[in-house]
Amino acid sequence: MRARLPGESCDTVFVADADMVAEVLRAEGSIPKRKNAPTWEYYRNKNNVSMGLVFEDGDEWERLRSAVQTPIFPPKNAHAYCPAVGPATTQVMDVVEDAVTTIILGQRLGALDVEPNPLALEMIRAVYAQIVTTGPVLLMPEFGSFLGQVLQRDATITRRDLLSTAVDLLLAGIDITSRSLLSTMNLLGRYPNVQAKLRDEIYAVVGTDPNAQLDASHLAKFKYLKNVLKEASRVFMVVPINTRFLARDAVVGGYALPQGTAVLLASETIAHSPKYFADPETFSPDRWDAKDIHPFASLPFGLGSRMCVGRRVSEMEMTVILAHLLGRFEILPAPAPQDIIFNVLLSTAGPMPVKFRPLDAKSVATTVS
Ligand code: HEM
Repeated sequence: MRARLPGESCDTVFVADADMVAEVLRAEGSIPKRKNAPTWEYYRNKNNVSMGLVFEDGDEWERLRSAVQTPIFPPKNAHAYCPAVGPATTQVMDVVEDAVTTIILGQRLGALDVEPNPLALEMIRAVYAQIVTTGPVLLMPEFGSFLGQVLQRDATITRRDLLSTAVDLLLAGIDITSRSLLSTMNLLGRYPNVQAKLRDEIYAVVGTDPNAQLDASHLAKFKYLKNVLKEASRVFMVVPINTRFLARDAVVGGYALPQGTAVLLASETIAHSPKYFADPETFSPDRWDAKDIHPFASLPFGLGSRMCVGRRVSEMEMTVILAHLLGRFEILPAPAPQDIIFNVLLSTAGPMPVKFRPLDAKSVATTVS
């Protein structure tokens, strides 16, 4: 389908078929280009802030991406941050926000402390409101391990590049990871058999001590947990669409599209199609044991050289948090999320329903949303 989106001067081609996604991504070129958010572009230009990794294009994007890629994308490097995330997981759910921050800034924000750091609260509010602000990051007393590594890798990276990229990583990382984790918890509550099987695997890999700290060697041993995360991100795909501009003329679904065509990939629609997933609304992690799943049918992190640079970090965080959480709590059945809305990300109109009960206390239930 082809349509003119509000405020745009060219048509966008909508693609909701996995083979066509493959055709589009084959024509994305070596420096893929996504649509930008005009409001963010305006804000950054107006404030003379570098466009950052998410919004930059062309050679500038390649320069930033290659500086950020090595410290956090290869599984080995992402998993090395595991011990940094471990202690924070004891603060269970709220901690997702701080865990991402620990990696990007090399220190916890302290938003969860008894007397929360006001700067931390301001930053988290800014992320939730999707307002780009470099102010809180500028006030950080020092850059942490990840930012230090980026600086060391590329001498051309300026403080300006670094700040907007750090803000991008925080914006992209905090909200999306916490939403994904909450929806995974909701699914585990509604599918007790999956939860029980997952807890068995966690006990087998980590043991039954709920205070055991995880490291990279544990991560490699989780098989079912990987399937749970893959399936949860298919069922509740927090980033439900993606975009590309074709870098060359291409044939997509039998139609000839010229170079420069804007394409919207309906990732969530494809991931819920019975053409690719039998009984697609059912949460069934075991389906990922099959060898014949279409490789372009469920792409929660995108694909290719512009795919999510935080993927491994995010998967590592969700693994560590779920392993700790299921070692201590039973996730009780809660209603499926209602009133799902799309505002760039997939979200629920109200809080995501999640209920916990400590494993050793059979009567008291805590609701977190
Ligand atoms: C469950 C969690 C997450 C999901 C589902 C997710 C999903 C995505 C998707 C779909 C894209 C677009 C990829 C493409 O165009 O092919 C993206 C890009 C990006 N993500 Fe994530 N993301 C997650 C977590 C994170 C985290 C934790 C970080 C930071 C540490 C992060 C940083 C980024 C950045 C910087 C980009 C832009 C990359 C570029 O344009 O080169 N994301 N993400």
